[in-house]
Amino acid sequence: MSSKPHQVKVELGSRGYSIRIGTGLLPRLGRECRALGLDSRCMVISDELVAQHYGAPAVGSLEKAGFTVSLLVVPAGERSKNLKTAGRCYQQLAAHRMERKSFVVALGGGVVGDLAGFVAATYLRGIPFVQVPTSLLAQVDSSVGGKVGINLAAAKNLVGAFHQPRLVLCDLDTLRTLPDREYRSGLAEVIKYGVIQDAAFFAFLEKNLSGILAQKPSVLAKTIARCCEIKAYIVGQDEFESGARALLNFGHTVGHAIEAVAGYGRFLHGEAIALGMVAAASISVARTSLPATSANRLSVLLQRAGLPTQFVWHPRLRSRLWDAMVLDKKVSRGELRFVLASDVGQCRFGLPVPALEVNAALDHLAGRPPSKP
Ligand SMILES: NC(=O)c1ccc[n+]([C@@H]2O[C@H](COP(=O)([O-])OP(=O)(O)OC[C@H]3O[C@@H](n4cnc5c(N)ncnc54)[C@H](O)[C@@H]3O)[C@@H](O)[C@H]2O)c1
Ligand SMILES: [Zn+2]
Repeated sequence: MSSKPHQVKVELGSRGYSIRIGTGLLPRLGRECRALGLDSRCMVISDELVAQHYGAPAVGSLEKAGFTVSLLVVPAGERSKNLKTAGRCYQQLAAHRMERKSFVVALGGGVVGDLAGFVAATYLRGIPFVQVPTSLLAQVDSSVGGKVGINLAAAKNLVGAFHQPRLVLCDLDTLRTLPDREYRSGLAEVIKYGVIQDAAFFAFLEKNLSGILAQKPSVLAKTIARCCEIKAYIVGQDEFESGARALLNFGHTVGHAIEAVAGYGRFLHGEAIALGMVAAASISVARTSLPATSANRLSVLLQRAGLPTQFVWHPRLRSRLWDAMVLDKKVSRGELRFVLASDVGQCRFGLPVPALEVNAALDHLAGRPPSKP
């Protein structure tokens, strides 16, 4: 049963588009693409796990609407977000005689969205693409905003482009097959939106977490729609990431460092971001007068969502955590810059934080008293 989908508009002038959120949307993919006036030929790019569930319905829906469709399946996981796989995509697009007006459908999580979006941004100097995100992280974050890219051996997301999709279709039904741990990891970004922009939404999450965990469609649709609204609003202010978009990095300075130092794979992205948010909140208590009760509300909500709030790291990792944070580029005149909260729903970006306070937050994460300078 599908109910009327929620709709969020990303206002970017001629590059603007709609995000539709609801159940039963995948079978409507073909009709939606028709309504956009897209040309007759398209390629669906997906990964092997997602394609197994949703490849045939996506292709079927597009064919039923009269499109000539080919399906390209890449291995699942971050390892596909590279130049070699992008090369395979270009070759297939050429082999299927895709033209300037042909389009790409990204069917999968953030990896497929970033890869397929990057391929669409660069093939023939840019062809249209449609996002059909199937992970919670992709539905609330990576499919919205037009950042696409691939990794190099040197670092993640080192090569990329801004290329807005023509449509984002978030079908809640697809989340049913997403592994529970991936789903909870996506919740970290959901909670982040409450902290950076919307205290009422944060309170909504506190109240409705059990419905969200049970994937109750009405609650989930409202949750995802609000996240997309917030991201769309921030992207609308700063499409090319020269200012306000930095707010979306709340929890990401320490989070990215933990991902890198713990070894990619130990923590999923959202799990590392949960830890990063706990660290950013503890710095915020010291520097931007975040009430301790608010920092505590954040930790409690993360824990209830099944996310980690403690990371017991060995003291010898301190310098590696620092190297990773410095590499993450958010440094100016020797001081790391953070997004900090003065309360739930109120954040500012680009705030310098002295090393001593960053270290205190890292010790706090490990449950240790602050080490002496
Ligand atoms: N472009 C952006 O603005 C942006 C923002 C945040 C993250 N990202 C990128 O997103 C990527 C992470 O995205 P992700 O967490 O979705 O990872 P992912 O795409 O690897 O998906 C996680 C896993 O879940 C599987 N999966 C996805 N949907 C499924 C479904 N419905 N049923 C069963 N299995 C499913 C995938 O096959 C994969 O194994 C990273 O590469 C990150 O850099 C981009
Ligand atoms: Zn993130």
